[in-house]
Amino acid sequence: MNKQLLAISGLMVLLSGCSQLNMVKESIPFFSSEENQGVPLNAEEKVESKDNSINESTNDQAAENIQQNELVLASEFFNQVKEVNGKNIIQNPTNVLALVNKQYNLPSSYSPLDLVRPDVSFSFGDEKLEKSYLRQEASDALEKMFNKAAQQDIHLVAVSGYRSYDRQAVLFDAEVNKVGKKKAVQVVAIPGSSEHQSGLAIDISSHSANLILTEEFGKTVEGKWLAKHAHKYGYILRYPKGKETITGYQYEPWHFRYVGVEAAKVIYKNKWTLEEYLNIVEKI
Ligand code: DAL
Ligand code: ZN
Repeated sequence: MNKQLLAISGLMVLLSGCSQLNMVKESIPFFSSEENQGVPLNAEEKVESKDNSINESTNDQAAENIQQNELVLASEFFNQVKEVNGKNIIQNPTNVLALVNKQYNLPSSYSPLDLVRPDVSFSFGDEKLEKSYLRQEASDALEKMFNKAAQQDIHLVAVSGYRSYDRQAVLFDAEVNKVGKKKAVQVVAIPGSSEHQSGLAIDISSHSANLILTEEFGKTVEGKWLAKHAHKYGYILRYPKGKETITGYQYEPWHFRYVGVEAAKVIYKNKWTLEEYLNIVEKI
């Protein structure tokens, strides 16, 4: 099956709301604090044939294999879910590909154990606030991304990373008080459903956008640079324009989610959301 067919069939699965839930149990640690290129070559790609006639079919086969390899994913990278009080609670929250959204929530007690403060510039300076932390892997990738951008005279500023369940509750309640619940749920996640609680999401801005989280950031050179290059560092633009009905959120040019380089490149290349990717890839 070619990629387009796979994508279409995957989308049909997504739209039909079909998903597989595995029930497992695991104890979750608690943490409390305050707020505020190239996909590695496949073996097939490296093979060089001296026979041109064989070469052509070998290359076709190699191309097919590459596409297929991109579209399979080990089962450990899918959510393992248990229904608690009518909510789908993720039982493997440390999974770097955890799908955290309006359908799948993190346990309220979950906080990553490997939070570190990336050595990048933050909109609030050097204070060690809760929001200045990210999981180790996401932090390392963020530093590389910010450094590469700076080499190209693109100056990114981190605004908000890790957020505890309790902090998300404060932000959500404040938004509800400001604009009402109907509008609030389109821009701020209900506690438990925010990727910020995973320690794998970061909001980014720039001085050209006055260090605020605004749609205008998408039009700045910094916002455009991120949209074009973040996947090389394992980050995806999580809430793209035009995908609001899939993600459940308005376009957020500032919100980037770490998923690892391999997944990020496939998602970027196909212009997918994380929801689409995880519905289209085959679980092995
Ligand atoms: N703004 C995103 C959806 C969040 O609150 O996590
Ligand atoms: Zn965000």
